[in-house]
Amino acid sequence: MSGFPAARLRRLRRTDGLRSLVRESHLDPSRLVLPLFVCEGTDRREPIDGLPGHERVSVDLLRDEISEAVTLELGGVLLFGVPDDKDKDEAASAAYAVDGIVARAVQAAKDAAPELPLITDVCLCSYTSHGHCGVIHDGEIANDLSVEMIARAALSHAEAGADLVAPSDMMDGRVAAVRTALDAEGHEQVGIVSYAAKYASAFYGPFRAAASSNPSFGDRRGYQLDPANRREALREIALDVEEAADIVMVKPALSYLDVIAAARARVDLPLAAYSTSGEYAMVKAAAERGWVDERQAALEQLIGIRRAGADIIVTYWAKEVARWL
Ligand code: PBG
Ligand code: ZN
Repeated sequence: MSGFPAARLRRLRRTDGLRSLVRESHLDPSRLVLPLFVCEGTDRREPIDGLPGHERVSVDLLRDEISEAVTLELGGVLLFGVPDDKDKDEAASAAYAVDGIVARAVQAAKDAAPELPLITDVCLCSYTSHGHCGVIHDGEIANDLSVEMIARAALSHAEAGADLVAPSDMMDGRVAAVRTALDAEGHEQVGIVSYAAKYASAFYGPFRAAASSNPSFGDRRGYQLDPANRREALREIALDVEEAADIVMVKPALSYLDVIAAARARVDLPLAAYSTSGEYAMVKAAAERGWVDERQAALEQLIGIRRAGADIIVTYWAKEVARWL
């Protein structure tokens, strides 16, 4: 062999066309899910501190948000209900009220765009007076009692017309309980997106302000995963698969790319990753100071999540990405 080196990887990096030809991962709007926050009242649109570009909107204004998601050909939307403070109680009753905020939002969204995949977040934390993801009994977050209420909340979303319900509470056994509750009422076609591996993370900060779901005491480490653990996350995922989850999710995304990759290698279900509020806010804040380029940083984060193995990404950048691409 004369000439050194014979293998030159730069050959395929020479032009845009060649780079595009050999690109291994892609970001497509159809893979992105947009989180939306829905509040009580009418004609209400409130900016969210820490989530620039996002607002809490009342149900009557949801139609515009949904139409935009359709126009941009996003993969779907993920609805979060934000009840008024006066409707919160120890039992999280507003979470599973028949005409609850999410149920009404689902009806409005389905009315605006029946075809757009509609996912609802199912949890108690925005509805409990104390902000925990479960109800409290004898000073503990009671697992099985919470699961019953979570199943009722999921059922109320399904009755309203949700395509997929997404329990995000991290109680044990909730996927099975939700599946049983849905099937018992004839909703065997409603799927479950399980927040299967959800970590006790610092990267939920802006979200908790947006959804008013900050725990008033303690933290979520008694139910969410320890950031140090990967095998435990894989057990969570395996259990949710056994309990008949349709899609499993890892959350947050950026600090857990190894978990996404390991999950990808092990399960054949569609795999989602949640690029959380804190991951978004960090880039927004740094970009505001001129320290990073927002577009480049966002696209790099998101392609990294796809490269790690996620099929679907829940991201606050969904609309921007659709416009950028
Ligand atoms: C509530 C819930 C949280 C998020 C989604 N559902 C916050 C939490 O667990 O405290 C986080 C979303 C984000 O930060 O973007 N169970
Ligand atoms: Zn919660």
